[in-house]
Amino acid sequence: PEIGCLSIIVLGASGDLAKKKTFPALFHLYCQGFLPPIEVHIFGYARTKISDDELRNRIRGYLVSERSASPSKDVSKFLQLIKYVSGSYDAAEGFQMLDKEISKHETSKNSLEGSSRRLFYLALPPSVYPSVCRMIRRYCMKKSNLGGWTRIVVEKPFGRDLGSAEELSSQIGELFDEPQIYRIDHYLGKELVQNLLVLRFANRFFLPLWNRDNIDNVQIVFREDFGTEGRGGYFDEYGIIRDIIQNHLLQVLCLVAMEKPVSLKPERIRDEKVKVLQSVLPIKDEEVVLGQYEGYRDDPTVPDHSNTPTFATVILRIHNERWEGVPFILKAGKALNSRKAEIRVQFKDVPGDIFKCKKQGRNEFVIRLQPSEAMYMKLMVKQPGLEMSTVQSELDLSYRQRYQGVTIPEAYERLILDTIRGDQQHFVRRDELKAAWEIFTPLLHRIDNGEMKPIPYQAGSRGPAEADELLEKAGYVQTHGYIWIPPTL
Ligand code: BG6
Repeated sequence: PEIGCLSIIVLGASGDLAKKKTFPALFHLYCQGFLPPIEVHIFGYARTKISDDELRNRIRGYLVSERSASPSKDVSKFLQLIKYVSGSYDAAEGFQMLDKEISKHETSKNSLEGSSRRLFYLALPPSVYPSVCRMIRRYCMKKSNLGGWTRIVVEKPFGRDLGSAEELSSQIGELFDEPQIYRIDHYLGKELVQNLLVLRFANRFFLPLWNRDNIDNVQIVFREDFGTEGRGGYFDEYGIIRDIIQNHLLQVLCLVAMEKPVSLKPERIRDEKVKVLQSVLPIKDEEVVLGQYEGYRDDPTVPDHSNTPTFATVILRIHNERWEGVPFILKAGKALNSRKAEIRVQFKDVPGDIFKCKKQGRNEFVIRLQPSEAMYMKLMVKQPGLEMSTVQSELDLSYRQRYQGVTIPEAYERLILDTIRGDQQHFVRRDELKAAWEIFTPLLHRIDNGEMKPIPYQAGSRGPAEADELLEKAGYVQTHGYIWIPPTL
């Protein structure tokens, strides 16, 4: 274990992301003993001129822990670790002040002489990343830092397209080395996303089946049953492809489709992900359906003629030996009829089927990321009873049932712990980001220019009917008369 003082600095401390995700995640880590009070200090930095206590009061309501034995005591103790410094994002003074505050704790009592660990979490809009990074680099980095480090955590959106993302990457890249930069995609912190590697490469079952000879199509789906309430202004600038598909769903696709890494070293895993992204063929217009829910433009922060999609189905084709001919259907939508995220791997029909059970549905392996984390395999069995008939059933691993009493950590909690430990496996590397933008930029430009238009759909529906038609054309066979029921535990 590393020794010495650890300082966690949350920039944009009074903003939404910090309040709802960053501080609560730090609180959970604190409750589980990962942030020992003697060694760890937390700082909030933002422009608003408020006192330490005012910041603490703003955060307090978001700190809830079912895991804590005495929650209110833990909350107060945790809040006492936080100090607040106010300053602008592009002037020396604030950052000099911040450096002074951080240094106060880095005494020889708390750390090895000259060593300090400083984690800067940028809960900020990307437009200020370059100036904030410059300020940190100039004023908040320790000169002699034996065994210590400085790390920067950044959040999407990393640019709007290939050009802007590359510009942002090179601006930050001039100031910090890649091993110091942690680009968060919080989907990589989800339990079942992290499980993909184990599932695929530690099970003999899947090895021979996971390819174009056996798999007919793969769907990666994200649905939300609410609209863009309160974030219309942000969302309209980006749209569902930039908000969900280009990052969260594409990351999941990488883990489903990549080859086995030569080892578990973060760099080796990320090498394989990059290869998948580089094998994706250009997206065809006829393999895209865009939608916008009715009522989206009523939001006062959304322009009346917005062309921004709130729903999209996009088929990606991976041009390699394993996947040629297998459509990867990425689908995401806001204001739909349900909230869930899942991966559906649908197998081909059984050749020479003597049971004529084709109509009942195919073998399908479903990995349910949320809610009700589960993996289930839809398969045919004999209908129990006297008759020799078939029926579709499932092998079901529902986490809530199987792992009773185990709390699945929040994505942010896990990822922040990784940044403290210096493990970049679940973070997006620069070349990965570039390859991801390369896939979607031509399509995004056509949408931005109004050359492709979203189809209106009713809020609370399945999305545009055209999306289901595209799915069917791609080969997906919907199971009829059978639905998986999550455990009621
Ligand atoms: C964020 C998107 O990255 O992910 C939001 O900006 C979306 O639009 C959210 O609601 C979904 O995250 P989760 O973890 O609730 O699936």
